[in-house]
Amino acid sequence: MSGPHCERAPPATTPFTGVDMVLRTGTSADAAAAAALHAGQIREGFLASLGPRFLGRLYRRVPHVPGSFLLVVEAEGRIAGFLAGSVDVRALYREFLIRDGAFAVFDCAWRFIRSPRRVFETLRHGTSEEGGEPELLAVAVDPEARGLGGGRALVEGFLTEIARRGRSTAHVVVASGNDRAVALYRRTGFAVVERFELHRGSESLLMRHSASSPREPS
Ligand SMILES: CC(C)(COP(=O)(O)OP(=O)(O)OC[C@H]1O[C@@H](n2cnc3c(N)ncnc32)[C@H](O)[C@@H]1OP(=O)(O)O)[C@@H](O)C(=O)NCCC(=O)NCCS
Repeated sequence: MSGPHCERAPPATTPFTGVDMVLRTGTSADAAAAAALHAGQIREGFLASLGPRFLGRLYRRVPHVPGSFLLVVEAEGRIAGFLAGSVDVRALYREFLIRDGAFAVFDCAWRFIRSPRRVFETLRHGTSEEGGEPELLAVAVDPEARGLGGGRALVEGFLTEIARRGRSTAHVVVASGNDRAVALYRRTGFAVVERFELHRGSESLLMRHSASSPREPS
């Protein structure tokens, strides 16, 4: 909200200055921070609606599944952003279901029951023909640290990581109205290959990157 009578509450933490923003591989110890960023900053997709406890469990699993990884950017000793990626999304969901399925059902059953259509839409996407291609699953940067290059560092880190694993193409699904994210993906060499409705009534973009895609200069 804006206007003279609606002052924004001061941020709970001091703003990041962007000095010494460092990219590194994430571990299970970063899962809670990644989950909080996902639940708080990503407005789209079914996963965000499952809440930080579910996401924390998922992100604790990610670094332990071969082919899946977390990246984080740190500024001033705090986590300023995270990215989750995978070269084998099916293996990630399979491992999560096997090892954490009981927790997921117990913790989130009511959400699944309340929105079965969104669960179906999400799973259908997860088993689509892109299922065998590396996927950028989620990326978010703390609002206090945006516009400082953290998002670009994370996406470029993702591309470096999949190349290190011998893969030359990748995709991401993003809401067409998410201008900042779409701009970030375009600037790092992704291009729109398809427009579709992942969830009824809202348009999503499938964007793909291939090793030959040009990355725009910073
Ligand atoms: C998308 C997001 C990760 C970008 O993070 P960021 O740290 O601000 O990104 P960067 O500072 O590295 O900027 C990268 C590019 O994003 C774009 N961008 C940055 N700030 C922008 C703004 N205010 N408006 C429009 N585009 C912007 C620019 O194209 C920029 O290109 P450049 O590197 O050539 O300057 C961040 O806005 C975010 O966390 N959004 C909410 C979560 C989300 O929607 N994630 C995507 C869905 S999974």
